Amino acid sequence: MDARVPSISDYIARAEAKLGGVLGGACRVAVYHEINKDLLKIISEIEDERFRSELRYSERELTIRSKKRGFTCFIVYLDERPIAFVFGFDDPEKGAYFSDSAATLIERKGIGSILTALETCYCLEKGYTSEKMITEDLDESGRRLVEYWGRFGFYVTRRDPKIGVEMRLELTPEVVKELLDKYLP
Ligand SMILES: CC(C)(COP(=O)(O)OP(=O)(O)OC[C@H]1O[C@@H](n2cnc3c(N)ncnc32)[C@H](O)[C@@H]1OP(=O)(O)O)[C@@H](O)C(=O)NCCC(=O)NCCS
Repeated sequence: MDARVPSISDYIARAEAKLGGVLGGACRVAVYHEINKDLLKIISEIEDERFRSELRYSERELTIRSKKRGFTCFIVYLDERPIAFVFGFDDPEKGAYFSDSAATLIERKGIGSILTALETCYCLEKGYTSEKMITEDLDESGRRLVEYWGRFGFYVTRRDPKIGVEMRLELTPEVVKELLDKYLP
């Protein structure tokens, strides 16, 4: 393995320690590649609280997504209560990973950034060369999402009024290392 490529398990341990300190409890980060009833419930409950209705996935839509090649979901637990997730799967473009959805019940404590850093680390380790996503400039709560993702190096590739704002991050060991050094030093 390239010595510059960090190991995801080390960074998960760092994330658990950092979030445990910030949030004042025991933090655990779990990675899933299959969906079950418990995981559906976790994602749905967080989505219900964080997304307006048209952006929420139904259990059927989540199940369809979970069957896509490369499906990977990170869940953050605080004292065994699920508080955040990010999930994605292989994009139709070769070598690209599509990061489909992310949300946290506790905002502005660094959970979103840490999940993004972990996801890029995971993707690099798995051999993906880019990450893609679709977002919007501003959500109904005034979150500037394009700006938010821009912080991690994602750049806009397309704006489509029907689909949203497509963004992309090229994954290189340097890019991922920079994110990990920033969010999980
Ligand atoms: C978007 C979201 C995942 C961000 O997670 P978070 O844990 O609050 O983000 P962080 O605490 O890691 O913040 C990261 C940076 O973004 C900034 N930031 C966070 N929320 C922001 C907001 N609403 N507007 C502008 N900047 C914001 C933080 O100040 C921080 O900046 P820094 O790196 O300079 O310190 C979270 O707000 C959320 O769950 N939103 C609802 C669901 C959603 O919109 N998901 C994304 C769909 S594309």
